[in-house]
Amino acid sequence: MPDLQTSSLSTYILAIESSCDDTSAAVIRDAEVLSNKVANQIVHAQYGGVVPELASRAHMSNIVPVVDAALKEAGIDRQQLSAIAFTQSPGLIGSLMVGASFAKAFAQAANIPLIAVHHMQAHVLAHFITEPRPQFPFLCLTVSGGHTQLVLCHDYLKMEVLGETLDDAAGEAFDKTAKILGLPYPGGPLVDRYAKEGDPHRFKFSTSEMPELNFSFSGLKTSILYFLQKEQKANPNFIQDNRDDICASVQYSIIKMLLTKLIKAAKQTGAKHVGIAGGVSANSGLRAALQETGQKEGWQVYIPDFQYCTDNAAMIAITAWYKYQRGEFATMDIIPSARATWS
Ligand code: KG4
Ligand code: ZN
Repeated sequence: MPDLQTSSLSTYILAIESSCDDTSAAVIRDAEVLSNKVANQIVHAQYGGVVPELASRAHMSNIVPVVDAALKEAGIDRQQLSAIAFTQSPGLIGSLMVGASFAKAFAQAANIPLIAVHHMQAHVLAHFITEPRPQFPFLCLTVSGGHTQLVLCHDYLKMEVLGETLDDAAGEAFDKTAKILGLPYPGGPLVDRYAKEGDPHRFKFSTSEMPELNFSFSGLKTSILYFLQKEQKANPNFIQDNRDDICASVQYSIIKMLLTKLIKAAKQTGAKHVGIAGGVSANSGLRAALQETGQKEGWQVYIPDFQYCTDNAAMIAITAWYKYQRGEFATMDIIPSARATWS
């Protein structure tokens, strides 16, 4: 193991992210990201969602070229690496296993430490890749395709989940709406695009009110489905005729649900540094609404660069950097886990 106290040389970490349908590799020098490569898997679009077995196979063919590209762009070779990191949980088990197996083999061959990273923790720490960096306590709303969480960060690796979704994630609410509207997967970015042209107050959908700081999006999805089925009976072209207004109204409902709980969490915790993370934080309506709310509430607002919102290995790398400094290394018997439990 490296002598962390006395070494004054730079630390280089190669990080792998393979939890869902993006294969990504990044190289970090201390806290500075040198490269961040992502190979998207287009194979899933024809099925309207991610097919786990196809995702695993695509990771297997992508991982070596993506790692090579990340090392090349960073301008370093394997011998210079101080550690290798990978996403250990949560995610699709087959996809996680590809990244984990690759990282373990690499660590053993290069005789460098292995670092296991929690994907949701990494989404939050994506805020520490670029300036301005949040101060603690930092309240983060993580909204992705698989998760919706309110996280209070007391320190880089000390995080507390204050609330989360009890059913669908915010990203699923976007993707399922898109599917009902006949839009291709993943529909979130398309709903965002059409919403820009629509009226957010034209249609109202019922939403379920969850206790405390938890969320529920399944009621909203059902409300949208029943509303559209009814309208389509009266006018078979209803969706085509009203696409932009439907997207804008759905997006407005989702953002309202998210921000209501975020404001509540900020009041409860007294946090003034507030951010959003995860794939849905790429949503232009949510980004604008957070800025506006932040001004009203007196928050310092943090919104990650687009490349660090959706799944990427740079966020795994920055998390690994904090773990490296604390000597938090994994042993070779570590196995990936599909479950989101925080360690
Ligand atoms: O964090 P992420 O890349 O993967 C997971 O960890 O799940 O998030 C993917 C999710 C998908 O549901 C996708 O539709 C959503 O993020 N998403 C968006 C936008 N860009 C990505 N949702 C709404 N508006 C966007 N612009
Ligand atoms: Zn994610």
